[in-house]
Amino acid sequence: MCGIVGYVGKRNALPIVLEGLKRLEYRGYDSAGVVLWDGEEIKFEKTAGRVAALEKKISNKPWQGNLAIAHTRWATHGKPSDRNAHPHADCAQKIYVVHNGIVENYLEIREALTREGHVFKSDTDTEVLAHLIERPFLATSGPIALEDAVLDALRHVVGTFGLAVISKDDPQKIVAARRGSPLILGLGDGEYLAASDAAAIVEHTKNVIYLHDNEMALLTPQGLKIFNLSKKTLEKPVDTINWDISAAQKGGFAHFMKKEIFEGPAALENVLRGRLLEKDGVSKLGGLESVRDKLLNVKRILITACGTSYYAGLIGKYYFEEIAKVPASAEYASEFRYSNPVVDESAAVILISQSGETADTLEALREAKKHGALTLGIVNAVGSTIARESDAGIYNHAGPEIGVASTKAFISQLGALMLVALFLGRQRSKIPLNLGEKFVKELKGLPAKMEWILKKDEEIKKLAKKYLKHKNFLYLGRKYQFPVALEGALKLKEISYRHAEGYASGEMKHGPIALIDENFPTIVLATKDMVYEKIISNIEEIKARSGKILAVATEGDDRILKLVDDVIFIPQTLEMLAPILSIIPLQLFAYHTANLLGLDVDKPRNLAKSVTVE
Ligand code: F6R
Repeated sequence: MCGIVGYVGKRNALPIVLEGLKRLEYRGYDSAGVVLWDGEEIKFEKTAGRVAALEKKISNKPWQGNLAIAHTRWATHGKPSDRNAHPHADCAQKIYVVHNGIVENYLEIREALTREGHVFKSDTDTEVLAHLIERPFLATSGPIALEDAVLDALRHVVGTFGLAVISKDDPQKIVAARRGSPLILGLGDGEYLAASDAAAIVEHTKNVIYLHDNEMALLTPQGLKIFNLSKKTLEKPVDTINWDISAAQKGGFAHFMKKEIFEGPAALENVLRGRLLEKDGVSKLGGLESVRDKLLNVKRILITACGTSYYAGLIGKYYFEEIAKVPASAEYASEFRYSNPVVDESAAVILISQSGETADTLEALREAKKHGALTLGIVNAVGSTIARESDAGIYNHAGPEIGVASTKAFISQLGALMLVALFLGRQRSKIPLNLGEKFVKELKGLPAKMEWILKKDEEIKKLAKKYLKHKNFLYLGRKYQFPVALEGALKLKEISYRHAEGYASGEMKHGPIALIDENFPTIVLATKDMVYEKIISNIEEIKARSGKILAVATEGDDRILKLVDDVIFIPQTLEMLAPILSIIPLQLFAYHTANLLGLDVDKPRNLAKSVTVE
């Protein structure tokens, strides 16, 4: 949940790590800190607040140095405050650590170290790492390499870490290590970087190495060495980042969220690119080739994910059942992992994750593997843990998603799920060629229809203004549109802090209807599909109770105009694909509501983009 970045090379490290931190702020933004080696001494500063607050604090300090590490925090242990901000140091103030993850046994370690005389200055779990690393230095007067001290320290740690360490006594190096929290290494020209995410690195180099669990890296001006936690040297492949810095910038938009909503059509095009064969009405998925035969034999599909990705999975469940006729279900990864799931070799478990690092989804993957299930990842972040540990899968290729609220990734996930469903449906001969062709054709035409909806941005802003005074909202949808109602409500609550409940519209009578009055508006997904008439009945019931209604409906539906207070029209499409269109007005509605309320759309309170802790 935190972001770390480190640099060693020929240039002044300070602006490089501070800029990197800004690109990682989506991972956490309640405090920030930096530590720099200026060739003679250590300089450091940390503060509660954002990277901008850190910059302000050091703005009058003429620090220069070729080596630095920095951190942006999302608090787990200890409140956001100056003293809990990273870096954390040992007693002698020689060793500095920045850390992402959780040291689960920190209390035990802290007590033992306190008995040995170590003095702690923060409430964090991370600080024990600095003191553990200090220990071997205290035990001998001879020289000790920093990496050996870190290795020794990590032997005591239960939990997760992506960390970077520097020391005044061994100053020309950064030691970085990972278990459970992502770390990527950048190889530049005479300079090396380490970071939680490629966004902090891509401006300087596109050549990267993904560090795996239980691996450590030593970054010096002379080069990069990688070894495992038993100190065995490892040769690792160098990968290339296939997007550039502009993808991690706002590109003229006021917020990343708005930019990413507008990138929805491109995200869909990218996930479909080269994967649709119109003449055969099928999808071609290189990432599934190695498990093609196994897939043919699975009797059941279980989709598991968190948050927005889970809602995409709920729609995927329908796709698999309707197109491929395979029994399918979707479950929160946080539930699945503790549910003693009844899955075995006859099941495929699909993990959906934008970041590829979500702790619950990762553990669900490991649980599924333990039971012998075939695991497939639908992942956006290339090289991420879920992508690596899945048996097979497909990448979204949506580019980095930086706004904390997931938008283009959702669209891309629906595209990916449709591709997998088509693959299975045709593989199992469950859909005829002409139907396959129809899906392929409609999918290809969707980006243009999405652009058409995006042109309604101003109209949706006006509606957001109209409904701004309301503090509670009900979102209703049925069948394919039910998960869209859940996702629309999630978007509104997470960035505007308005209370919003997503409900299956058929359930309205079983409770939520009691909430309806003139102050409790309902947003209804009322597209022309097989449950349209049912939705119209719900609308009548809401009207009869003086409820205000904003509907998302199919272009040309004049009937609805007379029934509801406001309508946002979207183009006609196949009903299975309608969620890819209907979510866009809801994303924009949430965006404008939060923006009109003057809230920080890209960095909503209490949230972080990548939930790498449980
Ligand atoms: C909501 C949101 C979260 C994520 C969830 C899963 O806008 O972004 O609900 O969808 O934390 O994250 P990933 O997809 O990275 O596993």
